[in-house]
Amino acid sequence: MKIAVMGYGTIGSGVVEVLDVNRDVIAKRVGEPLEVKSVLDLREFKGDPIESKIVHDYMDIVNDPEVRIVVETMGGVEPAYTFVKAMLMAGKHVTTSNKALVADKGAELIGIAKEHNVTFLFEASVGGGIPIIRALQESLTGDVVEEIKGIVNGTTNYMMTKMTMEGSEFEDVLKEAQDKGYAEKDPTADIEGYDACRKIAILTSLVCGKQVDYNDIPTEGIHKITATDIKYANAMGRAIKLLATSQAAGDTYYARVAPFLLTPSHPLYHVNDVFNAVYVHGNMLGDGMFYGSGAGKLPTASAVVGDIVEIAKNVDGNIPITWEPSKVTLADPGNQEYEFFVRTTADQATVEAAFGAVSYVDAGIAGEVGFTTSKMAQREYDDKAKQLGDVLQMIRLA
Ligand code: HSE
Repeated sequence: MKIAVMGYGTIGSGVVEVLDVNRDVIAKRVGEPLEVKSVLDLREFKGDPIESKIVHDYMDIVNDPEVRIVVETMGGVEPAYTFVKAMLMAGKHVTTSNKALVADKGAELIGIAKEHNVTFLFEASVGGGIPIIRALQESLTGDVVEEIKGIVNGTTNYMMTKMTMEGSEFEDVLKEAQDKGYAEKDPTADIEGYDACRKIAILTSLVCGKQVDYNDIPTEGIHKITATDIKYANAMGRAIKLLATSQAAGDTYYARVAPFLLTPSHPLYHVNDVFNAVYVHGNMLGDGMFYGSGAGKLPTASAVVGDIVEIAKNVDGNIPITWEPSKVTLADPGNQEYEFFVRTTADQATVEAAFGAVSYVDAGIAGEVGFTTSKMAQREYDDKAKQLGDVLQMIRLA
């Protein structure tokens, strides 16, 4: 069975490597060998074993009747969307690692695949090598998933772990993450939470079977977290993690991406470094957690190849996925309730006039107070916080 790969970057070359290293076991599972016939890239890769397979025009793949499965590892919405759509319409199955594409066009591409009796899969788009999409799509289908909380961005989890362990400042840890190749040269999508936002939009869409628009999800990144915040977290015995969350609320969902302060009893507290984990609460399952390598070349490529094998075993038809294009109206995030940790230069009398009884946190920092509130709606917190005048930091507890 012949495969084409679109985008020979980190993940695309990883897919070729996984197919090569695990060739025999994959052939056994599929029932026939899988062969990469062509690789779409703008570059030539002179001297690379892949050189003879490079094509520069996606129509070469569209028009190649031998290619049954196409891998998209280019990233970004365009031109990936145009290329993937053309492949599906030409009757080719597609698997992608591209969360931007899936979050934006997932429902539409699933529909186009169905119309053309082929399959569109995207296991690698969330959690790298962790099989969370298949778990939601196939394993937890007897359950009602009521809550998802995920550490779904390896770069920011690495940074928060380093800041916690070493007490270092954000900018120093970011530079180190970039030097080690964990953070991209332009780390905006990771540190501002945009990457995590797209991933929780995908997971929530799969849970409800409808389109959750990532633009509707309130998203805060980690760029405002400082070494002083970590001192307060330590004083509370908590750890700060960037969480991507969604929670059932009647017939809709609350969703939010933000840093949270976790206690050691929280299953996500111990997820460190570049690891990812997705905690799921189902009405029958209770709690479950999916943990592992959430980013990087081979873990992500492993998930893509898992999709290829699944497609190859079902090559004559469509593997159905329930994700319709109709849009979900998310619950008003102002109504979601939390306890809040706050740092302010306001005095204790002002704090108590605004919030009533609070629990002060002593981290030995002069010139400010840190405290945690009782549970209240986000909107109520926003109103009370205005009375403080100066809020240096606010982090929700989880
Ligand atoms: N930039 C992403 C991360 C890559 O750090 O998790 C995986 O989607």
